[in-house]
Amino acid sequence: MKIIYLGTIIELIRGDITKITADAIVNAANSSLAGGGGVDGAIHRAAGRVIAEQCRKIVKKQGGCKTGEAVYTDAGNLDAKYIIHTVGPIYRVAASDETQLSSAYTNSLMLAKKLGARTIAFPSISTGIYRFPIKKASLIALKAIKRFVEENRETFKKITLVLFSEYDFNIYKMAVATVFDS
Ligand code: APR
Repeated sequence: MKIIYLGTIIELIRGDITKITADAIVNAANSSLAGGGGVDGAIHRAAGRVIAEQCRKIVKKQGGCKTGEAVYTDAGNLDAKYIIHTVGPIYRVAASDETQLSSAYTNSLMLAKKLGARTIAFPSISTGIYRFPIKKASLIALKAIKRFVEENRETFKKITLVLFSEYDFNIYKMAVATVFDS
């Protein structure tokens, strides 16, 4: 499903983010950029070893990536120009969780803008291994995206959220209705 908001297409797709075409593909990474399971593992496997090498260089240079921040590498074998690695919070029921999750989306969008990307695809950050409740996370994600589009008009042609399961897809569909119809 998709909607158009201030000239930007906001699209929800059910599927595998490694199969998506976009200028920037966002990875739900960890602070040490060491790769992992979930979407991180899938992206590293599909993109190839060059990504892990570039991540190691970033770690050497700046000591990793803090929660809520974002860094980028090339996209290797993915159909993209860049991979933006961001780190969502591990859910701890603290207020800071929400701010950090919101920052992960906003900082990824800001970095993609800086890189000249016109299309970007996100997974559902923090809602897997990091256990952030998806209903809450989907609202935070869409509010952050909405605010970014309002403050950065005509930056992105399309912002895609790629949801791995039908359940997740339906939750995000409800969140689009809640956030963009209000
Ligand atoms: N495409 C799209 N979404 C995917 C894919 C994929 N190929 N694989 C998994 N997902 C979904 C999961 O179903 C979940 O909804 O991505 C969402 C985020 O889950 P995780 O990948 O577990 O990410 P997160 O909760 O942010 O945890 C990050 O997991 O892999 C490690 O190194 C990573 O330590 C970090 C932690």
